[in-house]
Amino acid sequence: MCGIVGYIGNKEAYPILIKGLKRLEYRGYDSAGVALMNGGLRLYKKKGKVSDLENEALKHDVSGSMGIGHTRWATHGAPNDENAHPHYSDSENLVIIHNGIIENYATLKEGLMKRGIKFHSQTDTEVLGNLIDHIRTQENLSLEESVRLALNEVVGAYAIVVMSKDEPNKLIAAKKGSPMVIGLGKDEFFIASDATPIVEHTKEVIYMEDEQFAVLERGKTPVIRTIRNKEITPFIQQLEMELETLEKGGYEHFMLKEIYEQPRSIFDSLRGRLDPETGRISMAGLIEYEHALINANRIVIIACGTSWHASLVGEYLIEEFARIPVEVEYASEFRYRNPVISEGDIVIAVSQSGETADTLAAIELAKSKGAIIFGICNVVGSSIARASHAGAYTHAGPEIGVASTKAFTAQVTVLSLIALFLANKKGTIQGSEYFRLINELYDLPKKVEKALENEEAVKQIASVYQHANNCLYLGRGFNFPVALEGALKLKEISYIHAEGYPAAEMKHGPIALIDEEMPVIVIAPRKGHYDKIVSNIQEVKARGGKIIAVVTEGDEIVKSMADHVLEVPETEDAFSPILTTIPLQFLAYHIAVMRGCNVDQPRNLAKSVTVE
Ligand code: AGP
Repeated sequence: MCGIVGYIGNKEAYPILIKGLKRLEYRGYDSAGVALMNGGLRLYKKKGKVSDLENEALKHDVSGSMGIGHTRWATHGAPNDENAHPHYSDSENLVIIHNGIIENYATLKEGLMKRGIKFHSQTDTEVLGNLIDHIRTQENLSLEESVRLALNEVVGAYAIVVMSKDEPNKLIAAKKGSPMVIGLGKDEFFIASDATPIVEHTKEVIYMEDEQFAVLERGKTPVIRTIRNKEITPFIQQLEMELETLEKGGYEHFMLKEIYEQPRSIFDSLRGRLDPETGRISMAGLIEYEHALINANRIVIIACGTSWHASLVGEYLIEEFARIPVEVEYASEFRYRNPVISEGDIVIAVSQSGETADTLAAIELAKSKGAIIFGICNVVGSSIARASHAGAYTHAGPEIGVASTKAFTAQVTVLSLIALFLANKKGTIQGSEYFRLINELYDLPKKVEKALENEEAVKQIASVYQHANNCLYLGRGFNFPVALEGALKLKEISYIHAEGYPAAEMKHGPIALIDEEMPVIVIAPRKGHYDKIVSNIQEVKARGGKIIAVVTEGDEIVKSMADHVLEVPETEDAFSPILTTIPLQFLAYHIAVMRGCNVDQPRNLAKSVTVE
């Protein structure tokens, strides 16, 4: 949820930290701060965005070749200057930044206060900083040993970076349950919550594991140990991410860029995995657990938000194609309700960021009950990817906009591959039907290109409904999850209340909502339950509702009834969510822009919810 950065080397730290924080601002942004080491510690922090911090810091001395920075999404204490990170210890000899939650901070704080230590904020982070400093001064220990001992007293999740003016040539970084990457430059080290602040400086990275800490000392090679004091040989990886993928590429917002990247991201999700000639589907994780998957009595899919909507499409796909029972669970519910999971059950975890705390916790619970975890993530080396027994990356490229778009269609693409792989292995789909589906899936990127040509038409409709207070989204079958997803897109970036519903549910209550003020978006592709959805449109029209219908191109029937139609190319009913979601992404985007909302960083939200 928060973003952390650190630098130690031979360049000025401040510009590197600020630019790094701007790359992480999508993770959380109610306040930001930096601390610099240069013959002493200097600390600047401010409520608001990184640019507000910059305006403050530049009034002061920001020199120094070592420093740490932080963007905050509040978990303890309101967003204000005092609660912003970094935090000084009471002695002001040490500063700390932190992403995560210290569950037992109140007990630790009570003990420290009894020893006369004073606090200046409501945060759990300040408690951890004072605990480290207290151990260091009381036991006269090195900074890294003090961090190690303090973390053995901590219950909770953390990604911290600590520095002390008594040891001005080293940064100590440690993580558990929150992400952290270390970049290895030439005589310089970078620390960050993910690789985006690092990639322009170096491609050599170390993904820290839970309960590890790193000592990054000027002129020395990094030392990594566990908090149980076991030395670790660092596994150095090469970053695949390119810098230009992080820029907006000429688009006004990252979200619009990512909507247009979908032909490419879907192609990349399929690349090397699907051969339309032979019909062969190959994903390492699938092959490794082929027997368990094919013989699974049921599959449970756990996820949050948009990933949960993609998972719901996955349920329909796997049951339709492979005839294996599937249940989709909100990870946040699953982790607390003592679910029935047996040894060998298959649990698929779907997550764009690979860092969602609820999903990670649900995985650990399922693992403890003997389940096999198959992770579908977008971020290579992310915590969920590393916590899974096997998996498949969506390869959609970095998704910066808080509202997930290309990740959703990439997740549905990967779930389609899994469903077809299982169907073919189980013999529930074979021969010409199998090859028809395989080739249709393979051709989808071209059809997505065509669906993207509709942006102008959607923009016209957005201008009509930009002042709506409520919206209903209706879909059936494979497009019921698309109704949920379309509603989430609209509410999370335009702040208009929107609800997704199975279209047939209207008569069980929601139809009472219909009047001239209620735009109803109906996903009505030609395939599937077309006649039924046409009836639903007529029910809404009969009560004065305004209909925006997503239809298969050339559809004249719905066109004659709806107030507005948005056309998408024809495809298999099972694959239609990948196309029908696109006009809904555009609709949410343009309404949000017209309402002057911050599309890439909507209020109250963060790109990766790494706390519960
Ligand atoms: C989707 O637009 C939202 N940003 C949010 O619902 C997101 O899908 C959810 O937090 C899950 O994130 P994940 O896919 O990274 O686990």
